[in-house]
Amino acid sequence: MSTHNDTQKNTGMPSGGMAPGNAMRPGGMRPGAAFGRGGPQAMMKGEKARNFKGTMKKLIAYLGPYKLSILVVLIFAVGSTIFSIVGPKILGKATTKLFEGVMQTIAGTGTGIDFGYIGGILLTVLILYGASALFGYIQGWIMSGVSVKITYKFREEILSKINRMPLRYFDGTNHGEVLSRMTNDVDTVNQTLSQSLSQMITSVVTVLGVLVMMLSISWQMTLVAMLILPLSLFIIRFIVSRSQKYFKEQQVYLGHVNGHIEEMFGSHAVVKAFNGEEKNIRKFDELNGTLYNTAWKSQFLSSIMMPMMNFVGNLGYVGVTIMGGYLAVKKLVSLGDIQAFIQYVRSFTQPISQIANISNVLQQTAASAERVFEFLEEAEEVPEQENALVPSAIQGHVEFRNVHFGYSPEKIIINDFSADIKPGQRVAIVGPTGAGKTTMVKLLMRFYDVNSGAILIDGHDIREYRRADLRKLFGMVLQDTWLFNGTILDNIRYGRLEATEAEVFEAAKAAHADHFIRAFPDGYKTELNEETTNISQGQKQLLTIARAILANPSMLILDEATSSVDTHTEVLIQKAMNNLMKGRTSFIIAHRLSTIRDADWILVMNHGDIVEQGTHESLLEKGGFYAELYNSQFEKSEAAEAV
Ligand SMILES: Nc1ncnc2c1ncn2[C@@H]1O[C@H](COP(=O)(O)OP(=O)(O)OP(=O)(O)O)[C@@H](O)[C@H]1O
Ligand SMILES: [Mg+2]
Repeated sequence: MSTHNDTQKNTGMPSGGMAPGNAMRPGGMRPGAAFGRGGPQAMMKGEKARNFKGTMKKLIAYLGPYKLSILVVLIFAVGSTIFSIVGPKILGKATTKLFEGVMQTIAGTGTGIDFGYIGGILLTVLILYGASALFGYIQGWIMSGVSVKITYKFREEILSKINRMPLRYFDGTNHGEVLSRMTNDVDTVNQTLSQSLSQMITSVVTVLGVLVMMLSISWQMTLVAMLILPLSLFIIRFIVSRSQKYFKEQQVYLGHVNGHIEEMFGSHAVVKAFNGEEKNIRKFDELNGTLYNTAWKSQFLSSIMMPMMNFVGNLGYVGVTIMGGYLAVKKLVSLGDIQAFIQYVRSFTQPISQIANISNVLQQTAASAERVFEFLEEAEEVPEQENALVPSAIQGHVEFRNVHFGYSPEKIIINDFSADIKPGQRVAIVGPTGAGKTTMVKLLMRFYDVNSGAILIDGHDIREYRRADLRKLFGMVLQDTWLFNGTILDNIRYGRLEATEAEVFEAAKAAHADHFIRAFPDGYKTELNEETTNISQGQKQLLTIARAILANPSMLILDEATSSVDTHTEVLIQKAMNNLMKGRTSFIIAHRLSTIRDADWILVMNHGDIVEQGTHESLLEKGGFYAELYNSQFEKSEAAEAV
């Protein structure tokens, strides 16, 4: 039962709940045992699904392939419960017989205790409980299988969905949220399926079955037992309504505390730099203090629930026992029946509170499932074209034709971009910060689709290729260096997974990264940490350049590829790059205009449009925007030279 409790804490089901099949294990439960740790919390009304019915329908559709298994589970759950419900009543007969035998022996009449009869009953009960346990075991086994398969499918779908989502989606979504869908929400659904579903069935069957058995013993005693129900419900409601408030507050402040810690961890350097430690500690103390108060209150309230319910349950016992004694004296019930009845009373309260909680569990499940479905139904990337072109022997003729694009419909960034780039040309894109240079690159790689217009490679719209094939054509070194947690070797090899170590070393040498890599104690096996903060910005750029060199692509994109590298190394890399770019169409974005002087063609961008284009010399001669940009960078040095 203990693992059962642990995994249950998020489901909204009362912990200490019964495992299917042992619903009626004699003496297995105390009255009010339904409210163990977290009881009232479980009773609290969680978030609600916006479309409960629709979500449930979808969830049931997911269960569709397992209809047969679920039917078997239902039958076995009902069977298991019924077997165990009958137990006490039959066992009661043994008690009655024993009692009669003892009385007869005392009175010196009759044959004494009928051990044969009692033995028979014990055997029957043993078989019944055994069958009940077996049924419970089987249904639990099947149901776990089904729920695990469904959650497996959910997770798989979420992951493949993530891969099919357009980048646009990630721009506007909190990553933590998707993560939470992947883990918490799927878990909630899993637990409802694996535990709550059969618990609901057993609870309902137990309550009905127990009621029937009680009535079959004595309606007067049943009436007395029922008297405690309103009292229990009143106590439950009273405590829950109070603890709910604190529990909600506790959750909120737990979130705040976690968020605060996360922030402090993440922006550790910033906090230190601005001497923010004290302020942060004060804020933390405040949050932690509030959390302490609310947690204390909500937990105290949930902990008094059980003793209170025990007390009420005991009152019920007293009533039932008095009534039973009276009826026994009147010879209306047998002693064994009273014993059976007490067992029934014991196992009555818990399923009742579980039933009371069903709607909460369902609501919570629906809310979780809804979030998962919502994500699965988000608009996806435009699907690949059927019979897509397979690029072979790419010439590298790139044409932008009246490209029109904005990250959001309200804010258009590229208004009307047209350019025709001949195969093998080295094209530089220059322009002030925010002009849209990186955006053009993203469009070219088809991270985003153009709003209107087209980008053509060798005369074919890039949408005619599969994305993966298109991206394979380009080697790129982007402004934000993409490195991951892993060894330097793996990071470089990501450019071409089948490359040998020697080839990786070769590429690193060409990118002038080899010497600094070998200076690390672990050399190429040096692990980059999660935020890749254990190497310098310039070193990161060199690694990504090595990766692009290794990939040996048909076309190259360098977006501020050497912006953080010292000028001496930059010159060296440029030489290596010149080799690499020979005969390949390449796009170079750079703010240091000295680095692009010898590009074949220069596109000057401003506010998302090409304002000028030409060679360095022709643009300078023209004396326009480019000349202004260029001169502003060189004025100082020229002025210095003039002196
Ligand atoms: N993911 C995004 N979502 C919304 N707007 C964006 C996004 N990325 C960039 N922008 C906006 O698009 C415009 C062009 O950005 P872009 O990155 O193309 O500029 P850039 O020319 O590369 O500038 P820099 O020289 O600073 O790298 C900017 O105004 C920027 O705010
Ligand atoms: Mg940029």
